[in-house]
Amino acid sequence: MEVCNVEDLDEEDVIGFDYNGQRYAVYRLAGDAYYASNGLCTHGGVDLAGGLVLNGCIECPKHNGRFDVTTGKAVKRPVRIDLKTYPAERRGGKVFINIAD
Ligand code: FES
Repeated sequence: MEVCNVEDLDEEDVIGFDYNGQRYAVYRLAGDAYYASNGLCTHGGVDLAGGLVLNGCIECPKHNGRFDVTTGKAVKRPVRIDLKTYPAERRGGKVFINIAD
């Protein structure tokens, strides 16, 4: 699934993506590394695309809980439930995620 152009997503940033009624978040870390997860916080259902990427984590804009974007692991309270993650990659000038499963 094509998400965006590489230049639409800066390093250490996140972009939201809607598909089939589901919200996803796609991340770009330093070193041209791409990751994806469900887009809503497991604590309060807030859109994580409005949050900040800090040291490989996404910080929820509502209560500042954090998830490791590489694993989806909940690493800072109040979040306790991990995010589901999906494979993401760059192909040429585009960013793709695999949400088939
Ligand atoms: S809604 Fe995300 S930390 Fe509460």
